[in-house]
Amino acid sequence: QDTLHDLAAAQGRYFGSATDNPELPDAAYAEILGSEFGQITPGNSMKWDTIEPVQGRFDFTKGDVITDFAQQHGQTVRGHTLVWHSQLPGWVGSLPSAQVETAMTDHITAEATHYRGEVAAWDVVNEPFNEDGTFRTSPFYTAMGSDYIATALRAAHAADPDAKLYINDYNIEGMGAKSDAMYDLVSELLDEGVPLDGVGMQAHLAIQYGFPYQMQANMQRFADLGLDVAVTELDVRMQLPADAAKLATQSSYYGQVVDACLAVGRCVGITIWDYTDKYSWVPSTFPGEGAANLYDDDLAPKPAYDAVRTALGGE
Ligand code: G3I
Repeated sequence: QDTLHDLAAAQGRYFGSATDNPELPDAAYAEILGSEFGQITPGNSMKWDTIEPVQGRFDFTKGDVITDFAQQHGQTVRGHTLVWHSQLPGWVGSLPSAQVETAMTDHITAEATHYRGEVAAWDVVNEPFNEDGTFRTSPFYTAMGSDYIATALRAAHAADPDAKLYINDYNIEGMGAKSDAMYDLVSELLDEGVPLDGVGMQAHLAIQYGFPYQMQANMQRFADLGLDVAVTELDVRMQLPADAAKLATQSSYYGQVVDACLAVGRCVGITIWDYTDKYSWVPSTFPGEGAANLYDDDLAPKPAYDAVRTALGGE
């Protein structure tokens, strides 16, 4: 039968999954990762602490394993992520403010140059906003104010002019203060001619918090600015234990995200934040929650998998 990616591709989209290096030796896992999905995102191995743990010393080993896997399986790669306040090695935060801009642009230049031609799209800046729409404090914001975002995008574009450049965040899937702030930011960047191709909506959803408010209309307003939109880290967690009712709600959320993306011409694709509960980030971050993914711990498809298939136009 058609894979999720086949179904998405028939609609001009990709369907992808995050993955991580320690999972790849799991042969049953890797088999599904390599066959069902047309795009992969490294969950950790292209982050700053992995790539440049010591200033000026770059180690692309783990990221290269991901791009090699993608090449062997005919998949595209979303690079994640060049500039983020988290998983940032300590030395960045210890730099005198006057040295942060150069450290940032050097990091971007080295990484985006290394992966030129292998990474189709970069999350250049990840999670720049607080929940209320103010800018999040980070070594970059402290040193440069919000200008760090334009500077980062320009450096990424210079290093890889062909990669699609994104700003990525969570809780911007629906209309609200945080997505309004993102809308204002990207509008200004476009007005200033800063190279920016798209907005990434992570979409770490939870059934107990409800479905994002007006997701399709929110995606559409970014698209109307001339930007691509991507769902970059979709999962739908719940309070454990899972039961049939919760799994049905979860299925409906997954289906609604697919519906929203397919309804917006510039929504280019969907990436789930790993495909199986076996390797989900959720239980360690939200104790008592989980079951967030399309496949269960034994790599068997859940009701949400069928809901995604149906929403993608599958049988
Ligand atoms: O590498 C160390 C390892 O040496 C150590 O033995 C082990 C012990 O806990 O920890 C390992 O580091 C972990 C790392 O993943 C690699 O596995 C960290 O503790 C753990 O916190 C880290 O979690 C990652 C998280 O980002 C960190 O913020 C998740 O795997 C990753 O899925 C998650 O992804 C983020 C996106 O980048 C941005 N959006 C939110 C999303 C979910 O949090």
